[in-house]
Amino acid sequence: KSILYRLWKGDVSSKMLNPRLQKAMKDYLSTNKHGVRFRGKRNSKLSSEQLFCELKARVNIRTIDGKEAPFSVLGWEKHVPQFSLNKLYPHGFGNCAVVMSAGAILNSSLGDEIDSHDAVLRFNSAPTRGYEKDVGNKTTMRIINSQILTNPNHHFIENSLYKDVILVAWDPAPYSANLNVWYKKPDYNLFTPYVQHRRKNPNQPFYILHPKFIWQLWDIIQENTKEKIQPNPPSSGFIGILIMMSMCSEVHVYEYIPSVRQTDLCHYHELYYDAACTLGAYHPLLYEKLLVQRMNRGFQDDLYRKGKVILPGFRNIVL
Ligand code: C5P
Repeated sequence: KSILYRLWKGDVSSKMLNPRLQKAMKDYLSTNKHGVRFRGKRNSKLSSEQLFCELKARVNIRTIDGKEAPFSVLGWEKHVPQFSLNKLYPHGFGNCAVVMSAGAILNSSLGDEIDSHDAVLRFNSAPTRGYEKDVGNKTTMRIINSQILTNPNHHFIENSLYKDVILVAWDPAPYSANLNVWYKKPDYNLFTPYVQHRRKNPNQPFYILHPKFIWQLWDIIQENTKEKIQPNPPSSGFIGILIMMSMCSEVHVYEYIPSVRQTDLCHYHELYYDAACTLGAYHPLLYEKLLVQRMNRGFQDDLYRKGKVILPGFRNIVL
């Protein structure tokens, strides 16, 4: 059976990946670049209901608020937005769309459906212009990794992609989440362009995710997976899904678990082919997807045809 079919059924192991991806996974496990020391138990066999409760109870969006060293010493309380991401929309959003950047969304004609949501989340440099028919044109929030802020090709400060939306940036920190160590040696130095952008656009909500939040999500993925997962942060996609579950009453995720249009085309906006974009190499993407598959409350037919998963917002989960 194909990997796609197995993903739909939630029945994949890393052994089914091609040898190159398996080798990459092993290498990340032995390198353990971020010093992960998992203290929990793997393979807790929670039902989908129990999983929701667990997520609701434990997942708390945390951003850098300038109150902890070294940020406190560096005067970051005046750099970060006055209201934290938690408090920005006290009543939250209604229905939200999370639009993955996968090549599989091409020729989907999902644009109108996506734009009908109260809030739309996109990732990194994924454009809407020229792709409206398939991905829509509304963007409420963008999650960006630290390379977007630092790689000159993205023109972060000038590019209109990063204007008039809520921005949420992140960078892989050590598993210990020691902010001093991270500040001195981020993966890519997002701190300088962050402060620069904040000064230029003081009214635009723009946050940096707290490393503790990112690694808490990683712990949850590992606890619910039998195999040892890559000791690297979850993908932006998974981070985004959990942020929207915290902020929305219902979340519709598009082309995370691939539809019948599954392709090795990495992004809809870029001519680059690599199965790792969909199945994971650095990120524990395969395991993230299996977890989301377990939680899917949508129709099987929507999954096959639209790559659409439906998840309840935390506020609609009764503990
Ligand atoms: O590549 P990038 O991180 O910008 O893409 C945004 C997110 O979309 C990824 O973090 C991943 O979760 C998801 N994605 C995917 N399959 C792809 C490309 C992206 O699931 N082929």
